[in-house]
Amino acid sequence: MTLFSGAAAEFWLRYVHYIFGILWIGHLYYFNFSQMAFMAEADASTKSAIFQKLTPRTMFWFRWGAMFTLLTGWAMIAHKAGMGVPLNSAWGTIILSGGILGTLMFLNVWLVIWPNNKIAIDNATRVAKGESAIPGVADLMARAAIGSRTNTLFSLPMLFFMGAASHLPLTLSPDKSLVPYWSTFAIIVGLIEFNAIKGKMGPLQKLGMAVHFGLLLTLVLYLAMEFLAG
Ligand code: HEM
Repeated sequence: MTLFSGAAAEFWLRYVHYIFGILWIGHLYYFNFSQMAFMAEADASTKSAIFQKLTPRTMFWFRWGAMFTLLTGWAMIAHKAGMGVPLNSAWGTIILSGGILGTLMFLNVWLVIWPNNKIAIDNATRVAKGESAIPGVADLMARAAIGSRTNTLFSLPMLFFMGAASHLPLTLSPDKSLVPYWSTFAIIVGLIEFNAIKGKMGPLQKLGMAVHFGLLLTLVLYLAMEFLAG
């Protein structure tokens, strides 16, 4: 059976990649589209119940979804590169653009969003037991929220590139260097990520702005690829 032959190895990785990708980005969108606005209105005891009973569960599936999406994604890239598909081809350039965005999103999950939420969970548990609150929790949650909004923004170009790699018939010019494209990518994406780590929420406070900036970033990166490398 084809499904159980060696030739289906990449297909299996792809299938698992979709499932974990949905698990991860489904939670990301739930946080950004529903839970953050709810938490802004909720009273203290509801917030405490959310942090103690819901957040440990959502954060578990969210961060492990991110982990297995990342692992299956890079395994597919390694597999295709091993089969001789060059990483400087149109496919390689597009999938690396999506893969790098996805990897930054993974780092935002594991190094920013999860550690800060873990402290918020510990804080809610301590306060519920009558112990003193952990200082600075509000600032840590604000940092997690900026990371989460940034991931919502990045998710739009990331998914565009995931789909485009094999389904958008884009050709790159063999005479053009990829340095201008990758430099443009690094500067724009680097500045947005820097803001996630050190900067302010600013307009990302509004979910609609994160979505619009995400669509704009998709357009800008696509045009950069067409005009600087195509
Ligand atoms: C975290 C880093 C990620 C890496 C390194 C990565 C890598 C890849 C690779 C190599 C492919 C195969 C592309 C092809 O064969 O043309 C792929 C496809 C895909 N990825 Fe990702 N991915 C990542 C994150 C995500 C996330 C978070 C999602 C969200 C759902 C996602 C959704 C998809 C989809 C829908 C496809 C299917 C494209 C197709 O069938 O042509 N990926 N990804």
